[in-house]
Parts: sequence; C-alpha cells; structure tokens
Amino acid sequence: SPVTLIGAPTDVGAGHRGARLGPEALRIAGLGEALMARGLQVLDRGNLEGPRNPWLDAVDGYRHITEVTEWNRLVMEAVYGELRDGRMPILLGGDHCLGLGSITGVARWCREAGKKLRVVWLDAHADFNTSEVTPSGNIHGMPVACLCGLGPEPLTHLSGVSPAVRPEDIRQIGIRSVDEGERRLLKQYGIDVYDMRYIDEVGMRAAVEEALDGLDEDTHLHVSFDVDFLDPSIAPGVGTTVLGGPTYREASLVMEMLCDTGRLGSLDIMELNPLIDDHNRTAILAVDLVESLFGKSTLLRD
Ligand code: ARG
Ligand code: MN
Ligand code: MN
Ligand code: MN
Repeated sequence: SPVTLIGAPTDVGAGHRGARLGPEALRIAGLGEALMARGLQVLDRGNLEGPRNPWLDAVDGYRHITEVTEWNRLVMEAVYGELRDGRMPILLGGDHCLGLGSITGVARWCREAGKKLRVVWLDAHADFNTSEVTPSGNIHGMPVACLCGLGPEPLTHLSGVSPAVRPEDIRQIGIRSVDEGERRLLKQYGIDVYDMRYIDEVGMRAAVEEALDGLDEDTHLHVSFDVDFLDPSIAPGVGTTVLGGPTYREASLVMEMLCDTGRLGSLDIMELNPLIDDHNRTAILAVDLVESLFGKSTLLRD
C-alpha cells in the first residue's frame, strides 16, 4: 500500500516562525525509512512551494489570510490528488492551518468515492476560533471552524462545497486549551471533544473507543496530529505548548488503537518547530508514534 509524503514548509498561520522547517526535521528523524521498515512503499514528493511568510499584523481578525488561502489550496490539491491515484497522503507540516486544506481534499475524495469520513483531531487546542473571537488572529487556531463552514469564504469554500465536513464526523482528543468565545462555538456546533479532564476521568482507552465508535468498512479515517497534543515534557519542539498533555504511553495507545481500526486513510503531522526543539527529539518522538500508527507493536498480535 503506497504512502506519499507531502512537505508543506510554512508557518504562515502560526504565531511563531519555525514550523516551516518541520518537514525536513521529520525526514531527518527518519520518517520515510521508518515507514519503509514497516513494509510500506513510500513516495516522497518533496515540498510544496507557496508564498513566503510576510510576518505582518492581523487585519480584520486574520493574519496572512491571502497566504494561508494559497497554501491551503496547494495542500488540498496535493492531498486530493494522492487519494484519487490510490495512495495514502501524509502531510508534513507546517502549521495546523493546513489541516483545513488537507481535510478539505480528503472530504472531496470521500464524496466522490462514496465513503464516510471520520476525522480524529489530536491536539492541545480545538482550533475552532473565528475572526470575531480569536485572541491572536493566527489562522492555525481556526481550521476546524472553517471545515464546519464557519469563517471567511475563501477558506470555507476551498473545494466549492461548504461545510467541507459535517461537525458530527469530527472527534477531538487531548484538548486542554480553549479560548473564551471558542468554547461557546464548540458547544453550538456540537463538536465531540475528549478533553484532558475526560481522559483523566475515564482513561485514554475508553475515550478513544468512544471516539472511534461507529467506524465501519466504508469509513475513511483521517488523523490530524498536532504535535502539541503531547505533553511538553516529552515534546518541547512546538510553538504553543500546553501543560498536562498525554504521556508517551497514552499517546502510543492512541496510535495503536487508531491503527487497529484498519481504516487509516490519510494523516497530517503538524506544528513541529525544530528551532525550539532539543536535538530534534520531538521529531524523533513523532516518528516513533507514527510507527505505532502504522502497526509497530511489541509482540506479534492476531
Ligand atoms: N487558541 C489559540 C489561538 O487561536 C492557539 C491556537 C493554537 N493552534 C495550533 N494549531 N497550535 O491563537
Ligand atoms: Mn512565545
Ligand atoms: Mn492545532
Ligand atoms: Mn495545538
């Protein structure tokens, strides 16, 4: 089963610069080799080329909306193209604003192929802000809202269809930082959020089981992995760390359970910022977790 690596070297949606180096850090950490060692055929398409980061202030509640739109268009086309040609796209971010383009491309392909979609969003943040409620104007805090049709026309209508994704097809896991207005919107749109308090109370296994409930053989599973999902003590190489994230064991279990569904169809690995990392350890950890997502296990399993 062929997988394709697509680098999207930009931090145009983020509040820190450096996630533009994420794709190379993941390659240097051995992502391609690790996937090949799992028996996958790996095609590395190199990096997309988009507009530079102008590093300007927010205008009308958005920073760099023109550049964010162009990058998302490129990502949507690349992700869609791989799926259409029968390969599994793995997007190497880049900041998480590109989850919008990636998932819009996935949703477009699912519509054409008559597949159901389930999006599992692994993140410390809900990324459900709008220009009215954002504290920063950074569009990496907005992609899930845009997917649900909430946001500016160029971002909500990337594929022509809006909402690109139905809110009921989204599950968020690991959330522990939600802004004031964002909290109301999550509730209003009925997003299924497994926050850290819930995970503390019921355990990661039960939370993930719930998030995966109802998946069947006609479902395409998309995993959008914001590396700041992980506890900062093990994953310091991200711009927006939040205390109290999943441990290595919990994160490994999530990946193993996602793998066990047999339904994984596409993946984003986002927000890795090697400029604030420690000898690339966060990239190396991300590669280890992706190995679990693709079936690495301690013992033979039946
Ligand atoms: N909620 C904050 C904001 O909207 C932080 C968002 C962080 N998002 C991310 N993908 N790292 O500015
Ligand atoms: Mn800072
Ligand atoms: Mn995110
Ligand atoms: Mn995040």
